[in-house]
Amino acid sequence: MAPKIAVFASGSGSNFQALYDAIQAGDLQAELVVMVTDQPQAFVVERANKAGVEALTFSPKTFATKAMYEQAVVEALQQRGVEWLVLAGYMRLVSDVLLHAYPNRIVNIHPSLLPSFPGKDAIEQAVAHGVKVTGVTVHYVDEGMDTGPIIAQRAVLVTEGDVEATAQAIHQVEHALYTEALNQILK
Ligand code: GRF
Repeated sequence: MAPKIAVFASGSGSNFQALYDAIQAGDLQAELVVMVTDQPQAFVVERANKAGVEALTFSPKTFATKAMYEQAVVEALQQRGVEWLVLAGYMRLVSDVLLHAYPNRIVNIHPSLLPSFPGKDAIEQAVAHGVKVTGVTVHYVDEGMDTGPIIAQRAVLVTEGDVEATAQAIHQVEHALYTEALNQILK
């Protein structure tokens, strides 16, 4: 049976879309059970609705603590038999409750060659720094910011001074690399 995954996203969801499309095309052996977001207005919600994937929206602000928020997420995931968490533009640090519920079962994609340029605005940081090569990293999630063990990386050439063009090239690589990396580890 294909492993059951949940995709976590907070924004446009182009990686959610790419993963969904890869599964539909038979290129990714997984069942996308649910999309989890902390941003009810995000475009990824529309994408999930259109794809017929359940969209679960949580408002972290309405919970007294982060642990209580994550506990509610874990319960929803366990009810649905989710086995792996795939973070794709989820703009929150994952903490203990999720990490303990899914040990070595949470992965993330980051738009740089880690450990360079962790955190927010990685593409802007790379262009501003003037590096000639940046890239994409898929890694396991730990309690740090973009610090877990690396699963896969691919280089992307920087278009000098041009965040938009560099971002476009990076997103293209992300969409292919995430599927490849997941096929490697979901076996
Ligand atoms: C991607 O660049 C991903 O690497 C980063 O956030 C971005 C999400 O883009 N973590 P999208 O919402 O999947 O289009």
